[in-house]
Amino acid sequence: MKNIVILISGRGSNMEAIVRACSEQAWPARIAAVLSSRPDAPGLKFAAAQGIPVGVVDHRHYPDRASFDKALANAIDAHVPDLVVLAGFMRILTPEFVEHYAGRMMNIHPSLLPSFPGLHTHQQALEAGVKVHGASVHFVTAALDHGPIVLQAAIEIGPEDTPETLAARLLPCEHQIYPRAVRWFVEGRLRVKDGVVHVDPPEPQLLIALAASDSPSDSPSDSPSDSANPVDTTGARQ
Ligand code: GRF
Repeated sequence: MKNIVILISGRGSNMEAIVRACSEQAWPARIAAVLSSRPDAPGLKFAAAQGIPVGVVDHRHYPDRASFDKALANAIDAHVPDLVVLAGFMRILTPEFVEHYAGRMMNIHPSLLPSFPGLHTHQQALEAGVKVHGASVHFVTAALDHGPIVLQAAIEIGPEDTPETLAARLLPCEHQIYPRAVRWFVEGRLRVKDGVVHVDPPEPQLLIALAASDSPSDSPSDSPSDSANPVDTTGARQ
């Protein structure tokens, strides 16, 4: 049984998708804790209602990044994690912290990395005029929004798209790929070789979803199970 510790800062919809998938798909893992950098993070309520231990390490109570990261690492390590999952966790982490969890910390970023690291990724994509956008689950390395890519989801950008429509269409994709990537990890199926992540036995590491004209449905509870909806690499467009 692997221990997963999930870090959030806000809504926590990706955390919710992972919690639900873990229990519905009977992963060989438990969500050992959900920790937030903000006491008012809405996601904490969901986690507590599931009976998951929750905690807050409020960054405003620490004078600098190093002392915050130390306190955060102590709170995480109390749960003996095999994997630390960053799910909308809005803090930049020190290299020491990242090194401590090397190979056992994942993040989801709302762009097709290595394009558009940092904030406002949907705006960045629109300004760059790219026609494909997406989200990436990756192992965390010291460089911001960088690291070996586990799984990506791609959506088309249409002429009518705005940062809001892109975010709305991408979120359900995030809710599919993040649980899948975490599941592969806890099943011991991920290998990183020369900076490239391989899944053993192989499975598609790309989800191509939702053409620009499709409308989103966003509910983690609607997230399909792996067996019902295999990752579609052929594309959803007609
Ligand atoms: C997601 O878009 C994720 O990609 C980004 O922050 C957002 C978090 O949403 N890192 P939620 O808190 O999981 O609902």
